[in-house]
Amino acid sequence: MPLTKITSKKEQGHISKKTILYAANIAKEVLGYSLEAEMEIRIGEGFITMHGCPIDNDLKDVPIGEIRPDRKSWISELVLLGVTYSVGFSPFSFRQEKSGRLVHEITPILGKEKSISSNGQVNFKPHADGAFLSRENRPETLSLLCLNNDSETNTKIVGIDSLLSEFNHDEINILASAEFLHIPPETFELSTKTYSEKSSILDRINGVWEVKVATHNSQPKTERAKAVFEKFTILSEEKSHSIRWNPGDLVIFSNFRCLHGRGDINGKRWLQRCYGSSRVHPGYIMDLL
Ligand SMILES: [Fe+2]
Repeated sequence: MPLTKITSKKEQGHISKKTILYAANIAKEVLGYSLEAEMEIRIGEGFITMHGCPIDNDLKDVPIGEIRPDRKSWISELVLLGVTYSVGFSPFSFRQEKSGRLVHEITPILGKEKSISSNGQVNFKPHADGAFLSRENRPETLSLLCLNNDSETNTKIVGIDSLLSEFNHDEINILASAEFLHIPPETFELSTKTYSEKSSILDRINGVWEVKVATHNSQPKTERAKAVFEKFTILSEEKSHSIRWNPGDLVIFSNFRCLHGRGDINGKRWLQRCYGSSRVHPGYIMDLL
C-alpha cells in the first residue's frame, strides 16, 4: 500500500515535522539516554511508563467528540509527539481514521456510548490496533497521555510473552495459522468487506512472537481455532497489567508485542493518542486506499 506524505497544515493539526523534531530534541534533553527505553519497548517487557509529564493548564473542556477544544494550547500534543519520536518511533496517522489527525482525542463520544471502540464507554477487550493491516502498515507503537481520568478507568496491557507461557506447542501453532478473520474497526472509514483479512493471530518475526488480534472483533474460522481463541481471549484479560492513570502520565507500548484494553468508563476521561512507526518519517499520513 502506498505511503502518502501530506503537507497540509490543516490535516496535520498544525503540527509540522519540524515542530515534532524540535519537541523530540527537548524530550531527549529532559529524558536523557533513550535507547534503553526503545529496547524495553522492542524486546523487553513491551511498554514504558512516565509520570508527571507537562500538560496544559486549562483542561476543563473535555471534548465530547473527536475534535480538540479550540482554545487548548499545544503542550500535551508536543509532549506526546516529542517523547514518541525521542524513543525511536515516528508519529504518523491514517487518512481513513479521525481525518488523518496525528493526535487523537480518546474520550467517550456523545451518541457512541455503546460502541466497543475508543469512542465508546463500554468494556473494551484486549486488542492490538489495526490487526487487519499488514505488518508494514500497522502501528508499531501506541503512545497515550492522560489529561483527565475523573472516571478512574485503568488501561490494561498484556505482553504476548507472558500470555503465551499459558499455551502448549500445538495451541501456539494454531494461533500462528491463517485461521482467523481480522475485521477493520468502526473507527476506520473503510469497507469491512474489502479490508477484512484472513490471517494468523501470532507471527514469528526474527525469532520473536508478535501478535495481532481484536478479541472482541476477530473471528476464528475453524473448530480448532475457536477453542484456542476462547482460551486466548479469557487469559488476555486475566493476565493484563492495570495502568492507573493520573493527568500527566504517559505510556508507550509495542502494538506488535502487547494487547491493550480497558473497563467501562463512568465519568470524564480524556487521553491523547498517537501511533508510532520506525518505517515512516514523522508526520506521515498513510493512505490505505
Ligand atoms: Fe486500541
